[in-house]
Amino acid sequence: MPDAEPVTLPKPLPRVPRWQSLRRSVALAGNPLPELNAVLEKYGDTLELFIGGFVKSVLTRDPGLTQHILQKNHRNYAKSSFTRGFSRYVGHGLLTNDGADWLRQRRLIQPGFHRQRVAGLAGLMQRLVADALAPLRAQAAAGGGSTTVAAHALMTRLTFRIIASSVFSSDFSDAELDRLSALVTEIQAFYVRTIRQPYLRPWQWLRGGFRYHDGLVAELRALLGGYIARRRAAETAAAPPPDDLLQMLLDARYEDDGQPMRPEQVLDEALILLVAGHETSANALTWLLYLLARHPPEQAVIRTERAAAGLASAPPAFDDLPRLNTALHAVQEAMRLYPPAWMVDRVALADDEYQGLRIPKGTLFSIYLHGLHHDAKYWPDPEDFRPARFAPEAAKLLTLYAYAPFGGGPRLCIGMQFALTEMQLVVLEILRHFELEWPAGQPAVIQQPLITLRPKGDFELGLRLL
Ligand code: HEM
Repeated sequence: MPDAEPVTLPKPLPRVPRWQSLRRSVALAGNPLPELNAVLEKYGDTLELFIGGFVKSVLTRDPGLTQHILQKNHRNYAKSSFTRGFSRYVGHGLLTNDGADWLRQRRLIQPGFHRQRVAGLAGLMQRLVADALAPLRAQAAAGGGSTTVAAHALMTRLTFRIIASSVFSSDFSDAELDRLSALVTEIQAFYVRTIRQPYLRPWQWLRGGFRYHDGLVAELRALLGGYIARRRAAETAAAPPPDDLLQMLLDARYEDDGQPMRPEQVLDEALILLVAGHETSANALTWLLYLLARHPPEQAVIRTERAAAGLASAPPAFDDLPRLNTALHAVQEAMRLYPPAWMVDRVALADDEYQGLRIPKGTLFSIYLHGLHHDAKYWPDPEDFRPARFAPEAAKLLTLYAYAPFGGGPRLCIGMQFALTEMQLVVLEILRHFELEWPAGQPAVIQQPLITLRPKGDFELGLRLL
């Protein structure tokens, strides 16, 4: 992929007046996407604005600047106070950690996500997908061959079971899993509200919002902590421990001193894997089903490739996935249109410069991945769903960092291989059993960008047995 042509940035950067940011902050809190797209159209690809009317930030959809921050000069950029504030709720795992501590943890955990390790989890993923689809197949058969299902709820439940079972094996009951999932979702939603509308924080204090959500965090940590303690206690028993990501965290030893992680850190890392690996995949898959239901010919492309590979009648094994690339292209294109991590933030640790633009220490960057992915300069007809953009010949021409659903540089998503495998398997299995249909008269789905980009509400997906 070629690097982006360096763009000379205007100096000083155009600035959205503070009064305008403040006036629009309610609209911004409701749905920031149209607001952000409008200011980018008006002022250019990199500009200054005030988040919530108060916090000055540089908003960018410039691939070169994105690459500079995430990769080329990444040492100068840390997670911002937005991400650090999140650690109050989800602890100090990889996603919220920084500096030397982060690097030590990343080195320790990285091997747990290597390809072979993910390959070992593919069987578990297949089992959970089969469990999720069996009742729908029965329901469709009883309904004369077709049924409908609430897509986001289905994907949220399935991806939570996949990540929870990959980390903790399968010892949580269904009720516990649903409670864990609800806790993670509710805590995130609250945190986003406190960021988008900082002026409501005193009111949240008064009405006990912070106390209530701290209570949810305590409940979440107690559930997971109890499970981890039971696993540790069982380590002495004769039976071999399960081969899951928690065991990987418990068995890992630091290179420098040969010690294991402290129990509190194991809990933080396990919790971060649940948080980071849950909604992201659920949302990407939900958007993918939405797009496929509305573009039946793209479903046919995937099935045709599968039939040609002689893999039409059984769930694919991990090693079959490279021969079923059109499903992967559809996943990639869904994440272009609807990047689950739609914004990534960083703050400059020291003065820096990019293309003649002075970047003072403390500058807060909001890297707008959604904007990058929809920029017509890099994506012809950017609103069209065209998985073939990611076919090998076409993909060679894509601009580096005009597409970054998993971030980039050393902090690239550690779960990328896991997520891509999971999403490819899920969509292949759904399409093996069902034709996806868009129910007549159902309105188009609206985007709701919280920490991740989710559909507002849910929508019905038609499933016709094949
Ligand atoms: C479609 C699915 C996913 C998307 C789009 C996604 C996206 C991202 C992005 C953009 C980042 C970088 C954030 C930044 O630089 O500030 C990230 C980091 C991370 N992701 Fe994912 N992710 C996905 C799935 C997963 C899964 C399944 C897991 C766990 C199994 C996971 C675990 C993490 C962790 C731990 C980090 C922090 C890495 C670090 O800073 O060292 N993600 N993810």
